[in-house]
Amino acid sequence: MEKTARKVDAGPVEDFTVKIGKEVLIGDLKLAVFRLAEDEFHTIKNECPHKKGPLTEGMISGEHVFCPLHNWKIDITDGQVEEPDEGCVQTFKTEIIDNNVYITV
Ligand code: FES
Repeated sequence: MEKTARKVDAGPVEDFTVKIGKEVLIGDLKLAVFRLAEDEFHTIKNECPHKKGPLTEGMISGEHVFCPLHNWKIDITDGQVEEPDEGCVQTFKTEIIDNNVYITV
């Protein structure tokens, strides 16, 4: 049976720091929420497609995060791994509603 998408409240926008990743747990799902600007939020799975490095601990540069384990470069906006490495991290729709961050999982 297909799972129904649901919108989860991840907390007020003030809980997120610009250019610092934050892990949000939703059940067993570990998400990495990145606030790239005052009103720009993106969520990807907090797991590198290489060997599961925690992406929230990576360095952020522009719209990319560098995995803390082996430095793969991942686009925070669409989850794509930059070549020559390969792969893609799952992305999740993220919205601000009434000053709260909502993630659709
Ligand atoms: S686990 Fe991310 S680059 Fe290896």
